[in-house]
Amino acid sequence: MVDSALNDNTRFDVIVIGSGAAGLTLALRAADHCSVAVLSKGDLHQGATFYAQGGIAAVLDETDSTESHASDTYVAGANLGDPEIIRYIVEGSATAVEWLIDQGVPFTTKAEIADGSSANSDNSKKVQPASLHLTKEGGHTHHRIIHATDATGKAIFQTLQKKAAKHPNIKLIEGSTAIDLITQTQLLNKTCVGAYVLDQATGNVQLMSSKFVVLATGGASKAYLYTSNPDGASGDGIAIGWRAGCRVANLEFNQFHPTCLYHPHAKSFLITEALRGEGAKLELPDGKRFMAMFDNREELAPRDIVARAIDHEMKRLGCDCVFLNISDKPANFIIERFPTIYKKCLTLGIDITKDRIPVVPAAHYTCGGIMVDRNGMTDITNLYAIGETSHTGLHGANRMASNSLLECFVMSFAAARDIKGRIDQTSFSGTLRPWDDSRVRYPDDETLVAHNWEELRRCMWNFVGIVRNNERLKRAKRRITLIQGEIQEHYEKHRVTNDLLELRNLILVSSLIIDSALSRKESRGLHYNLDYPKILDRAENTILTPTSGRREDS
Ligand code: FAD
Ligand code: SIN
Repeated sequence: MVDSALNDNTRFDVIVIGSGAAGLTLALRAADHCSVAVLSKGDLHQGATFYAQGGIAAVLDETDSTESHASDTYVAGANLGDPEIIRYIVEGSATAVEWLIDQGVPFTTKAEIADGSSANSDNSKKVQPASLHLTKEGGHTHHRIIHATDATGKAIFQTLQKKAAKHPNIKLIEGSTAIDLITQTQLLNKTCVGAYVLDQATGNVQLMSSKFVVLATGGASKAYLYTSNPDGASGDGIAIGWRAGCRVANLEFNQFHPTCLYHPHAKSFLITEALRGEGAKLELPDGKRFMAMFDNREELAPRDIVARAIDHEMKRLGCDCVFLNISDKPANFIIERFPTIYKKCLTLGIDITKDRIPVVPAAHYTCGGIMVDRNGMTDITNLYAIGETSHTGLHGANRMASNSLLECFVMSFAAARDIKGRIDQTSFSGTLRPWDDSRVRYPDDETLVAHNWEELRRCMWNFVGIVRNNERLKRAKRRITLIQGEIQEHYEKHRVTNDLLELRNLILVSSLIIDSALSRKESRGLHYNLDYPKILDRAENTILTPTSGRREDS
């Protein structure tokens, strides 16, 4: 059932905050045993999942192996990932793919590629994992990415959303923004018992109580002026978890995708890495290729290397973009394999079967997040975090392409299993304190909020971007602290709106990103600091704790 408004003080066994790949999967896996509310602050499809293009990394080919996928992940992550977690998630890939096929996700098959038929149609025939077409992306030594043409996320979202909408125990609630968690502490043990949620339709803040809360709110790439992400990627889950007392890890590792479309009328449009997997080359404005100067894997080096190389060449030549060229492949193949990109570019006057595509790097993925164990459990009892908002240890200092969706599924399975195992021993909490806005006097002032948004995102782009140094980071910290003070004051006096809540969260996460970046005294993976250009022998996570705000040893 899909709802747009909340009812007063409703109780659910599980509140899932987020309706992307992670949230919907958890809901479907848990709902046979309990009641589940899935909240989305926008329409259900508005997370990053819907826009995912490339696919899901999985070990399906007989020449591939768990060892190879795990080793590629560890290497792409600049040796910072947790080998046990990497193995655990990679081992779950085949099961996740089978489940997605069972749900009806129309993945592209080898036969569809071979005969050039239009894939990604909504056919209901069940395919075998071995018959799926596998592509390649940066950092992968094997063809191991399954996809639904170039619109994998849309196919997954639509399939799971349909299933969830029909499930009698799942309630999908749009237009509801989680503000903060409700926790209770007994003998030093903090337990999550619900959340305060803004009902955007009425402007009221509702109390929702539950046995378990799951943060599945996606990433924080909206912290940067240029991003591949949709508007809601404001790091809400990370901020909400931090305010409640959760540790966060490795937030300095913001991934910049090397190839976002550069065009005045294209907002946040990604050109999938799978283009390079199928042979597209990067070129300078004069047509020269350049990746070989940076890495012998050339266009298929991990993302941090490719994005930095592009940034370097753009600064060296003073050009606005570089170009991606796939025009030497047959036109039919390009149109069938990348229909979304082909159509989008054509609307802007770029025929990718003939023309080069202008591209620039843009903020794409938050590798760090709320620290969780292998069940997705955070530092707070009965609070889980899954998907991009979490930090499992899979990605290390740089996420390998198409490992994010994989992590969403495997970790949602794990969290749902854990919840099912614990639900009978868990009870609802007694009376909870309703939201108190008695001291709030003013309606929201949109101009101030809009101004601070712009200032924050420009500051992060200019000073905390692909290449950093200490001076820029410290300058960013001073400015962000100032804006943070203004926002806090504003928050205390004004009625909350979705925009204000997002800004409050994004500014907090930005300050955590800068603290993490300042505390790393080396360059590793996505974090490149000109003042510490070398990589240290010992790889350590950057862990921040809400109580001290200081770094802990990992
Ligand atoms: P999301 O899908 O981002 O969903 C977040 C949900 O949380 C949304 O429903 C949102 O409304 C809700 N939400 C957020 N805050 C609140 C709040 N306060 N209250 C209520 N609801 C809230 N990864 C891959 O592995 N393969 C790919 O091919 C790939 N392609 C990508 C292409 C693009 C353009 C982008 C942007 C990302 C891509 N990624 C890809 C990354 C991947 O898509 C995301 O990491 C993944 O989809 C995140 O899923 P999620 O469920 O964690 O969050
Ligand atoms: C892409 O299709 O290039 C994005 C893949 C990813 O982010 O994993």
